[in-house]
Amino acid sequence: MTAATKPLYIVLLGAPGAGKGTQARLLTEELGIAHVASGDLFREHLNNQTELGRLAKQYMDRGELVPDDVTIRMVMERLERPDCAKGAILDGFPRTVAQARALDEALSTRGLQVDIVPYIKVSEETLVARLSGRWICRQCQATYHTLFNPPKKPGVCDICGGELYQRSDDTEETVRRRLQVYFEQTLPLIEYYQERGLLVEIDGEQEIDAVYRDLLAAIHQVAGVGTE
Ligand code: AP5
Ligand code: MG
Ligand code: ZN
Repeated sequence: MTAATKPLYIVLLGAPGAGKGTQARLLTEELGIAHVASGDLFREHLNNQTELGRLAKQYMDRGELVPDDVTIRMVMERLERPDCAKGAILDGFPRTVAQARALDEALSTRGLQVDIVPYIKVSEETLVARLSGRWICRQCQATYHTLFNPPKKPGVCDICGGELYQRSDDTEETVRRRLQVYFEQTLPLIEYYQERGLLVEIDGEQEIDAVYRDLLAAIHQVAGVGTE
């Protein structure tokens, strides 16, 4: 690793259930950069019963997006923390064109930019199947699936031994709304990043390991990484 390695900013784009969280977790370990997941940050606020958590819950339970102003503020604060000095994998943010612009502006004031936007593409049918069988660790947020990625012991996290739970927004009705919101408000970002030459399409229908291999190959191409 050279001392002057530039920070690396990766925006993982994909529908609810595409595998953003699953892949971000693997990438963050490999690349040594932070994992910044807006949904996880909101859930953390919810657990800590903060005012922001209470506000976000009203939107999340309905499958709607939390308003841009509070979301942008929360993520920008997160990006200021020391563990983001080498860059970050953004998972679930940006999700609107306004958020993408805010991110570009914040990075450019520091002479930085988004380096690559892998778009994990998955069919709607697969998305619904993935979300309905998902289990998450209460302690470390690791993600499992009853069929596709089961934990060694049911209900217990392989990594930290924490208790697994199902997200309250993974019900059929809310999933349908989340997908609708995604198609209306987040899909325009594909064009946004395509125009900037940053979008790389990844076949997200493959097994977790194959998706990971493709992601890593795409990232190595733009960044000549690892950061190591
Ligand atoms: P958020 O937490 O970001 O949820 P999401 O975007 O709906 O995405 P998910 O976390 O559901 O899916 P994922 O792509 O991470 O999939 P995963 O890896 O878990 O947001 C939740 C809510 O917060 C939003 O609805 C909104 O209200 C609010 N919010 C968040 N960010 C916001 C923003 N920027 N602006 C405004 N509001 C915001 O995988 C899914 C399942 O599939 C798992 O069980 C996994 O094991 C399995 N799986 C993964 N990959 C594979 C594979 N290749 N093969 C088989 N199974 C797989
Ligand atoms: Mg996620
Ligand atoms: Zn865990």
